[in-house]
This record gives sequence, C-alpha cells and structure tokens, in this order.
Amino acid sequence: MRVVLLGTAAGGGFPQWNCACELCTAARDGELPSRTQECAAVTGNGRDWWLLNASPDLRAQLTATPALRPGPGPRDTPLRGVLLTDAEADHVTGLAELRGAAGLKIYAAPPVRAVLAPARAALDRYAPWEWADSLADGGFVLAGGLVVTAHPVGAKIPKYVPAQVPPPAGPWVTAYRVEDLASGGVLVYAPCVASWSEELDELCSEADCVLLDGTFCTADEMRGAVRSGAGQAAMGHLPVTGPDGSLAALARHRGARRVYTHLNNTNPLLDPASPARARAAEEGVEVLPDGAELVL
Ligand code: MLT
Ligand code: MN
Ligand code: ZN
Repeated sequence: MRVVLLGTAAGGGFPQWNCACELCTAARDGELPSRTQECAAVTGNGRDWWLLNASPDLRAQLTATPALRPGPGPRDTPLRGVLLTDAEADHVTGLAELRGAAGLKIYAAPPVRAVLAPARAALDRYAPWEWADSLADGGFVLAGGLVVTAHPVGAKIPKYVPAQVPPPAGPWVTAYRVEDLASGGVLVYAPCVASWSEELDELCSEADCVLLDGTFCTADEMRGAVRSGAGQAAMGHLPVTGPDGSLAALARHRGARRVYTHLNNTNPLLDPASPARARAAEEGVEVLPDGAELVL
C-alpha cells in the first residue's frame, strides 16, 4: 500500500491567509515549510487511488502528485473515489473540485451523508456519483485490493450545520482502518479524534502506520491567537501533550510508524526547531511534509 500525504495542515492551511502570528509569518517568509489542508491518497496496486478526505486545496494537491496524473485516455484518471472521515468544511469542500469526474464512489458515515445531501444533489448534476455508508457491517473493499472499516472517534458537528433543527443522528467523525490484502500492511487514518478510546487503542495496536490528529499541541494553544481560545475544547481534537494527550497514547504503540497530520497554524510542531517537535521525535512520532509517501 502506498499513502501520499497530499496536505497536512488543519483548516485554513499553513500559513493561514488572514493570520499574522509568528508561525504563519515564518511560513510566509519561507522560514518554515508551508502546508496545504489535510488530505491523503492511498492505493493498493498503484493504479486505483482513493482519497482520504477532500480538502479545498485538492486541485493543487492532485496536480502536484505524479501518481495521480490523468490518462491515457483524455478523461481517464486513477482516482476512484473518496473516503470522508467527517463533514467539516476543510474535509469535504474539495468534492466540488472533482465535479464532473465520472463514476466516483464516496464513502461517509450516515450523518455526514445526510448533511451533504444538498451538495450531493448539486454534484450529481455534473456527473452522478455513488454514495455508500462507510459504517456498513463488515466494512468494504476498494478497487486495488484494500479492505476498509470505519470507526467512530468523535461527535463534533460542523459549525455550518444550523443549530435550530435536530441534527442527523449517528457518529459524525470516524477513523479508517485500511488493510492491503497483498502486503498485509495496515493503515489507521484518524485526522480528527476527540478523545482516545479503547477501540482506537486496539486499532493502533494492530497497525503498521497511524496517521493521527496533530491539530493542537496543547489544550489551550488557541488562546492568544486571533480567535479566543475558549472554543478549543469543543473543536473535537485531543491535544498532543498532557496525560490524556495523543503522545502518551502513541507511546503504547511503538510497533507502528506514527505520523501527526492536520496541524493547526498555532501548533509549535510546525517548527522543526521547537521543543515540541523534539519531544515528539524522542517518542519516535513523525511530522512529515506535504507530498511525503509512506509504503506499508
Ligand atoms: C476542525 O478540524 O476542527 C474544523 O475543520 C474547524 C473548522 O474549520 O471549522
Ligand atoms: Mn479540520
Ligand atoms: Zn497563524
């Protein structure tokens, strides 16, 4: 299985267009690597590729990735579809970039499918796509020899969902376990994790690679940024540090390659020279640049 990290920043990207914080300024000045919004691509056979989320930066991400070049026919593409982990704007708006591509298959949990129904109706007018339940019993098999199961990891409802009407019920945020039947390699993809569950822990214990929510380093790092920090806890991302943080949890899974993604522009992990980055490296947890490829 090959996994390409198309983008590794949280919503807004890095630098964020309207942010003048120290980290964003350093990225703008070319002192830190810029990052596009979180999204990945995976294949079992090198011919059939599947997106993990669809970021607003998708067009640039696809055109920068040689493996995803179209051809040989004028509208042939190795892209077969998209697996959504949630309905957040930074994970679904890239679907609009794919409009008109024939025959894509989109997997999502029931509340995500429900809230995207109007977008789906609009996209279907460009080219009909097949939408499937990511949580269907027994999981699903993707072209290219990948077997996938989805696992609930959070309940955060996106801000754009109106609060007045009862929201669709069910798990809003999921992780994916992707297994390559040929190599036996197992990827756990979890860019949005509200809290560490036993189920997630079990998934990680059997994984060869974990691509994990690294949005925030600390529980209060939004404080001091332009927005007030009050809402950070409600954003559905467990921080890296602290007794209940992800780094402590990942320390139990040294058998897997562990990589942080979905990094917010406030996160000191963005700076390779930061103490935070040194701490993660000490634990063997990686932060990789956009475009990095993993083989498992
Ligand atoms: C998140 O990951 O918490 C969301 O993408 C934030 C947002 O952009 O609304
Ligand atoms: Mn996000
Ligand atoms: Zn910033």
